[in-house]
Amino acid sequence: MTPPTPRLHVIDHPLVQHKLTLMRNKEASTNSFRRLLNELASLMTYEVTRDVAMQEVQVETPLETMTARVIDGKKLVFVSILRAGTGILDGMLSVVPGARVGHIGLYRDPKTLTAVEYYFKMPQDMHERDVIVVDPMLATGNSAIAAVERLKELSPKSIKFVCLLTCPEGVAAMHKAHPDVPVYTAAVDRQLNDHGYILPGLGDAGDRMFGTK
Ligand code: URA
Repeated sequence: MTPPTPRLHVIDHPLVQHKLTLMRNKEASTNSFRRLLNELASLMTYEVTRDVAMQEVQVETPLETMTARVIDGKKLVFVSILRAGTGILDGMLSVVPGARVGHIGLYRDPKTLTAVEYYFKMPQDMHERDVIVVDPMLATGNSAIAAVERLKELSPKSIKFVCLLTCPEGVAAMHKAHPDVPVYTAAVDRQLNDHGYILPGLGDAGDRMFGTK
């Protein structure tokens, strides 16, 4: 019998944890924050794509022809939740350059903290594709849940969610709404505050990445 897929994957590799700690530091510049996020995302991709489908191809080495395996990158879609997802997306594309990319524009209503959609653009034939949704912070879970709900309308083969940081509230909300979607993260922090920020966290990921505050 196949064991059930674990629903929460905390990627605790020393390289990932080291870079995450540097990003948490409020003194980190916009430039370092963005570079570290990029590097971290590419390292996390190693774990997230561990079970990705492969196909066999013939390859001629300088000595003979052999059958070897490659990833069919075109079947993978990275879906970035705007705007902060962009930082993770770039890092993931640096190691899976053939992946297709979709974007979902969602903003958090500052009063209700609910997600409001303003943009949705996906590649064609989503029912043939494996989707990896990216957003640096899984906080209330509202944006992630809304994004996954919307994507499920297109019946992709599978959906995974990747974030840099989350908290118990975010994980619980996501698992309750979408128990079939595994969550990959570098850390589960202590808690959410009343404004929907993760504590101790790293602040507003979008602002720190783009230098908007
Ligand atoms: N979004 C962020 O950018 N930071 C948080 O702590 C929570 C949500």
